[in-house]
Amino acid sequence: MIDSSKNEYLGELRARVVPQGPFNVTPLFVEKAKGAVVYDVEGRELIDFSGGIGVMNVGHCHPKVVAAIKDQAEKYTHTCFHVVMYEPYVKLAEKLCALTPGSFPKMAMFANSGAEAVENAVKIARYYTKRPAVIAFENAFHGRTLLAMSLTSKVMPYKLGFGPFAPEVYRMPYAYCYRCPFNLKYPDCDVTCADYLKEFFGSHVPAESTAALIVEPVAGEGGFITPPPEYFSKLINICHDNGIVFVADEIQTGMGRTGKMFAMEHWGVEPDLVTVAKSLAAGMPLSSVVGKKEMMDAPHVGGLGGTYGGNPVCCQAALAVLEVFEEENLLQRAEVLGKKLRERFDALQQQFEIIGDVRGKGPMLAMELVKDRETKKPAADEAKALVKFCYEKGLILLSCGNFSNVIRTLMPLVITDEQLERGLAIMEDGLSVISK
Ligand SMILES: Cc1ncc(COP(=O)(O)O)c(C=O)c1O
Repeated sequence: MIDSSKNEYLGELRARVVPQGPFNVTPLFVEKAKGAVVYDVEGRELIDFSGGIGVMNVGHCHPKVVAAIKDQAEKYTHTCFHVVMYEPYVKLAEKLCALTPGSFPKMAMFANSGAEAVENAVKIARYYTKRPAVIAFENAFHGRTLLAMSLTSKVMPYKLGFGPFAPEVYRMPYAYCYRCPFNLKYPDCDVTCADYLKEFFGSHVPAESTAALIVEPVAGEGGFITPPPEYFSKLINICHDNGIVFVADEIQTGMGRTGKMFAMEHWGVEPDLVTVAKSLAAGMPLSSVVGKKEMMDAPHVGGLGGTYGGNPVCCQAALAVLEVFEEENLLQRAEVLGKKLRERFDALQQQFEIIGDVRGKGPMLAMELVKDRETKKPAADEAKALVKFCYEKGLILLSCGNFSNVIRTLMPLVITDEQLERGLAIMEDGLSVISK
């Protein structure tokens, strides 16, 4: 029997025993989820355009992933890789080394969360270069641990009140063409924002002190900001001319999110180190740093690791995810999905003045809402109202951006055309309502 007050009851319990810090996009509690659909505890069906924040690219409860988890859980769930090693860890490392961009020899290590992968990438780059500084970007999000939070650029809610921050973090403007920090226009700008790195060495931090530059191919939490084609090759060349490790944070963009397995492939760039998490293991906590063998192998024995890193159940889930990608041609599906979404979003932009910009790569697509297309004043309240309208009508949708005015899509790539249409129809209704 369905209890029609169960969300409310659990919500009250949550408010009583869980602090407000861990935020909630919706007031709903889940009962079960399948593919691109989430069912709440009151039996409501919701189309999921969030995928648990970009984690469920292969879909909720994919049978192959569920079977892999069950099977592994019956054999052993933990020995700690540092105590008794196991095959799923090394098999997955082998696969990721083959899948990440770059034909050079690679190695991979595992941790639990995206933030932890970022922390490890910085440790590796520092050890390898023997330099302290890290360059990050405006609009960046790299996680919530001390160093990852220090690399993150959005103050509210991520940083306010949580200082002091980790030292030796320096911040460059990002290639935010819609609101160009240099007040220029692509392509006439000649991608000045990338060349600015050379000046940055004079004004902020010397190249000789810089271990790594860490950058998201598409700024995820920052608003799906998508740099122009020349951007990353310029950046990586400047890094390499100066002995700086180029780290691509592919935690949100990776695992097929943009229509390629890793988003840097769109820019034809081969990062020195890549951080991977989120959709890697379809909801099981697993992250990885993959990259150049000589860098990965630099830290001494015992310098990297953790009790749970590369848990065998998580690694088996990830191996199953990779099989699903192959068997179901998910990259091809992602490309088709991306085209469909782009067409619809472009049409919606024609229809609704509030949509100032449509951007992204493949099905990692977003619309930036503005009160006025001339002034580009961010429409954050309207974005919030749209998210609320949508979950009340049966669509889970997420906002992002430093002004919280960007609506983004992170739906499972296995979403059916019918589910996609249903979700988009709700979005369109919501845009009509908030545009009034
Ligand atoms: C690009 C990027 N890096 C790092 C993180 C942090 O990952 P986690 O929340 O697993 O620590 C995220 C999470 O949203 C992310 O999008």
